Amino acid sequence: MDVPPCVIDNGTGYTKLGFAGNNEPQFIIPTAIAVKEDKNPEGMQGLSIRGGSGATIPDLDFYIGDDALSTQASTYSVKYPIRHGIVDDWSLMEKYMERSIFKYLRVDPEDHHFLLTEPPLNTPENREFTAEIMFETFNVPGLYIAVQAVLALAASWPSREQADRSLTGVVIDSGDGVTHCIPVAEGYVIGSCIKHIPIAGRDVTFFIQNFFRERGEKVPPEMSYEVAKSIKEKYCYVCPDICKEFGKYHEDPSKWLKEYDGIHNITKKPFKCDVGAERFMAPEIFFQPEFISGGDFSTPLSAVVDNVCQMCPIDTRRNLYKNIVLSGGSTMFKDFGRRLQRDIRKLSDYRLNQVHEANRGAQAPTPIEVNVHTHKMQRYAVWFGGSMLASTPEFYKAAHTRQEYLEKGPSICRHNAVFGGMI
Ligand SMILES: Nc1ncnc2c1ncn2[C@@H]1O[C@H](COP(=O)(O)OP(=O)(O)OP(=O)(O)O)[C@@H](O)[C@H]1O
Ligand SMILES: [Mg+2]
Repeated sequence: MDVPPCVIDNGTGYTKLGFAGNNEPQFIIPTAIAVKEDKNPEGMQGLSIRGGSGATIPDLDFYIGDDALSTQASTYSVKYPIRHGIVDDWSLMEKYMERSIFKYLRVDPEDHHFLLTEPPLNTPENREFTAEIMFETFNVPGLYIAVQAVLALAASWPSREQADRSLTGVVIDSGDGVTHCIPVAEGYVIGSCIKHIPIAGRDVTFFIQNFFRERGEKVPPEMSYEVAKSIKEKYCYVCPDICKEFGKYHEDPSKWLKEYDGIHNITKKPFKCDVGAERFMAPEIFFQPEFISGGDFSTPLSAVVDNVCQMCPIDTRRNLYKNIVLSGGSTMFKDFGRRLQRDIRKLSDYRLNQVHEANRGAQAPTPIEVNVHTHKMQRYAVWFGGSMLASTPEFYKAAHTRQEYLEKGPSICRHNAVFGGMI
């Protein structure tokens, strides 16, 4: 095969698109679509290729990605087809995929195999819908739907040497809408032990936005979310101890305070705002969620990861603690991994001590090795793992083919063999 497979990772916030074999996706576009206000209540303004009589005319009057967000016309409404990682509107998703393939990747889908990603606990029915769209609407020759957590584990391998290829670990995938902790043993997700916390990138952004509003920073109100997001990505970091951090800011503010320079996107006038303690306070919500949840949710991320490991079968636990892997944009804060590792170690050492205290005289238990892996492919880990796996010959053996689809139908995609361990 000399044409590379296409790799698409559809996230709640961003879709990552590109070709297998590359280190980074070629396009990272918001998973947003602007469609004309619904004049047709049956929702048939879509491509309407599947299942119908074929009589409806395809409606191509829509935008996706940044074009969708920047469309000013009031006749369009912006929609988000994915919620918390799971496709919420298949008709919109089909349109979104159509534009992604033809306008962004600019390929004829009949020529390329596709690797798509799915969140943990995606349903078999959703996999069938995906297969239907890919094989029937786009006529792809081959399709593999990979579990995001498994791809993220593969992305963290330090090399492709056999010894480095562990498909056992806990993946912390924190994107825009949700943060998942997913234990994986030998390439299989331990579904019953997955946990999520309702805190992710957009909550950190909201935190900064509120902070600014309360402090009366002079940010144009219509740009406040974008400014907060950009400050978050540029200046925020995780600190070891917020009380000491406040002390540092108090002692020598000039060393820590930053100034953000922005330009109003309509009037083009420049504006400035100060960035202070929100630099470390905002990402702290992962470690002290009660800052924002008002008591609804108060378990720190470190305790959630520790719980996940403890719920897993006893013979996998040590290997899980040893390989905690970060994935997704919201794990990119400086020292995020370091703090998480320290906090999980504290919890596990405390537990071992308790056990030892309770069994005085018995031999001390072997300490548990806790490693949180920060690695250079973390930002687009899921996409990169997909790119790496889809560039191996095994990918073609694992992918479902069009021929198979025509013979057996969408049910072929209910299950996907794990193949990452074989390369
Ligand atoms: N350098 C950075 N520091 C902190 N946050 C960042 C950084 N870069 C991106 N982000 C944040 O990461 C989030 C997007 O991450 P990602 O692309 O992994 O999410 P997604 O896949 O769209 O969502 P999900 O995985 O929840 O479905 C956004 O909230 C973005 O602001
Ligand atoms: Mg994601």
